[in-house]
Amino acid sequence: MKVEVVEKIDRGFEIKFRVGKESEFKRNTLFQKVEADDSESFRIAGGEALKRVEKSIELGFLNISEIAISEKKYLREVIEGILLAHYSFQKYKSKVKKSPILKLFVKGSKESVKLAKTVVSATNYTRDIVNSTPNEMTPQRVAEIGEELGKKKKLEVSRLYQKDLKEEKMELFLAVGKASVNSPTLLKLAHRKKGKKKVLIIGKGLTYDTGGLSLKPAEFMKTMKADKSGASAVLGIMKGVAELDLDVEVVGFLGLAENMVGGDAYRPDDVIKAKNGKTVEVLNTDAEGRLVLADTLTYAQESEKDFDYILDIATLTGAAVVGVGEYTTLIMGNSEKVKSKMLKAGEDSGELVATLPFNRYLKEMISSKTADISNVGSSRYGGALTAGLFLNEFISEENSKKWLHLDIAGPAYVEKEWAYNSFGASGAGVRMVLQFLMNLEK
Ligand code: BES
Ligand code: ZN
Ligand code: ZN
Repeated sequence: MKVEVVEKIDRGFEIKFRVGKESEFKRNTLFQKVEADDSESFRIAGGEALKRVEKSIELGFLNISEIAISEKKYLREVIEGILLAHYSFQKYKSKVKKSPILKLFVKGSKESVKLAKTVVSATNYTRDIVNSTPNEMTPQRVAEIGEELGKKKKLEVSRLYQKDLKEEKMELFLAVGKASVNSPTLLKLAHRKKGKKKVLIIGKGLTYDTGGLSLKPAEFMKTMKADKSGASAVLGIMKGVAELDLDVEVVGFLGLAENMVGGDAYRPDDVIKAKNGKTVEVLNTDAEGRLVLADTLTYAQESEKDFDYILDIATLTGAAVVGVGEYTTLIMGNSEKVKSKMLKAGEDSGELVATLPFNRYLKEMISSKTADISNVGSSRYGGALTAGLFLNEFISEENSKKWLHLDIAGPAYVEKEWAYNSFGASGAGVRMVLQFLMNLEK
């Protein structure tokens, strides 16, 4: 079924949201139960209402093609919940079910409607990219999609190919992509706005992560097409920023590579020099995301000046998922102020987020006997933190308090549906970071 949002009068079948009371169908109306009087409950209720209406139409209990939404206070959230829950990925199906159009008549603040539609369209755009398979979504292809986006939305675009990465001495980045026939590439997109706040966003874009020579077991390799979720989120964020024409300067960087095995694969025991001059002892080729991010973070800090925040977003560690579960993004950084801004953005946007604190003792865990640092922690504990601290080694002193790391390994890919998140990629980070940027506008 296709869903179209139309700003028009309400008539015919109506969905009414009510807090606390049970759901019921009554003369041309679905009264949808809402758990509590808060924004996220209304998103969830929007998603539930849509599913019930869809089901009823499918079973022939309901014969409608238009629904009016009666909700004022949480109109944005209800539309978001409906449109997010409605997402499904059909790209590779030979037979796509005939999809009747369901029109949503909404009445209320034009601003809320536009915001909801734009934020969800950015999220679903990211979901489509992440859900697309690794045989199609090579680093080259993801970069092309970014270039197309840039052209369409009038963003400034630049790109580094493998030979440019060599010139830029990004040896960590290159090592990760070396064994793949699909060469690594770095894409940069910018929404320029002078005199306002400026934010850099760096995304991990592993179009596939086999683990490399430290090969993943089959059960863990499955779903690793989603290891490009960070970079794909950056694309969605740039789309949203451009469409909302935010009064914030935003520069996105996508570190795109494929972690494969082969005769020239990088190995555990290799020592490699990073773009910022530090030497890294590779002890596990499956801890590849931090290597790509390390050089991309250095490149971002060198190529842009006078920014206020530098964020990175990545499906970085299984440890993050073990720590907080599959629903929550973990954030780490050196500034409580920046962390609290992201916590607020999570709350406002409906994405779950939690902070994990660094401390002075953890750093020792990524020390190396041979090189300056090692790419994995020396203990089996604290894996999300040691990954975060590894990235911290590539943030310059002056930018230390501007930096925030987002580990989306848990929420990026949904294997069991929850709330309004349907199967597959969730677009984790898109709504939250867009909200973070919107909150900076104020
Ligand atoms: N892409 C994975 C992290 C991941 C795991 C994302 C599960 C989504 C779901 C990352 O590259 C990785 O393999 N990390 C290793 C690091 C370890 C070798 C130190 C991990 O978490 O096991
Ligand atoms: Zn890995
Ligand atoms: Zn990975």
